[in-house]
Amino acid sequence: MDASDPKPVGTEWTGPVIELRGLCRDFGSTRAVDHVSFEVPRGSVFGYIGPNGAGKTTSMRILSTLELPTAGEAFVEGISSVNDPDRVRSRLGFMPDSFGTYADTNCAEYLDFFARSYGLVGRERTRRLRWVMDFTGLRALAYKPIRGLSKGMRQRLCLGRALIHDPAVLILDEPAAGLDPRARIELRRIIRSLAAENKTILVSSHILTELAEMCDRVGIIEQGRLLARGTVEEIRNTLAPSRDIFVRVAGGTEEAMNLLSSLASVHDLRVEDARIHFSIDGDDDEQIRVLHALADARIGVLEFVSKDETLEDVFLRITQGRVQ
Ligand SMILES: Nc1ncnc2c1ncn2[C@@H]1O[C@H](COP(=O)(O)OP(=O)(O)OP(=O)(O)O)[C@@H](O)[C@H]1O
Ligand SMILES: [Mg+2]
Repeated sequence: MDASDPKPVGTEWTGPVIELRGLCRDFGSTRAVDHVSFEVPRGSVFGYIGPNGAGKTTSMRILSTLELPTAGEAFVEGISSVNDPDRVRSRLGFMPDSFGTYADTNCAEYLDFFARSYGLVGRERTRRLRWVMDFTGLRALAYKPIRGLSKGMRQRLCLGRALIHDPAVLILDEPAAGLDPRARIELRRIIRSLAAENKTILVSSHILTELAEMCDRVGIIEQGRLLARGTVEEIRNTLAPSRDIFVRVAGGTEEAMNLLSSLASVHDLRVEDARIHFSIDGDDDEQIRVLHALADARIGVLEFVSKDETLEDVFLRITQGRVQ
């Protein structure tokens, strides 16, 4: 069956719930999104990570039917965001990165407006409004004017709006931006609990570590191109991260330096504070080979300590911070 075929009535779509296929978007001579492809299975959280101007918002807006691609396709539950936007909208909640101004509206009126615009009526509307207020912790703020809300409260309201029609898919564009540490932890909990209810979630951020814990898989994007994707561990491993090592030997520092400098995987070799510091390209096996080489040369190793690249180091290394 073609992915854009209608979903059969009464059965749940079993393919990828979100799919981008060779997605491209040009703005004049700027290619904001450059052949981006990935899939997100049901009930999982995909983190979309990249620096300013990487193309996150543009691709999320295309998926959410708010923008058209120059080439490629985007699907929600197998339905094309380009060819069938109305059916996609009913399945999807989008939380934009900026919040419009609604000067004289309070939270309850705001959510009620969106509930009505999604066609919710009667008891169903009351039930959904109540659920969203409780889930986002907005009940106590129901009659507070939106202009009086703090950033964190606005984020909750915006998430509530995205959830009002109980969509299967959530697209959250930098939901953690501007939140304090406690609110970030709370957001993580909310996102995981939505995934546990089988919602499929695409969430963006500039910061890999911010998303690493809550995402099943991540994609790293820069200048419109997806540079890496997979679980955080896969990304760490496939990018052949270098790891920093320091060694303290009982005398024979020069001999150890000579030996290490002859090994192909060793680089940035130097002595600091009476310890030998270096980096190795490779995995645990390579690290073991280096240690064995020292032992085989009968060099007295007193300490051998390795430090993996942090996630943030990996991110900074593979993205070059180029802004277009
Ligand atoms: N409407 C537009 N007109 C012209 N250029 C645009 C438009 N929207 C986006 N761009 C350009 O497309 C590129 C990608 O922008 P986008 O907003 O998708 O990036 P982003 O990853 O969301 O960045 P940020 O982290 O700053 O939100 C940028 O170079 C941006 O200037
Ligand atoms: Mg953006």
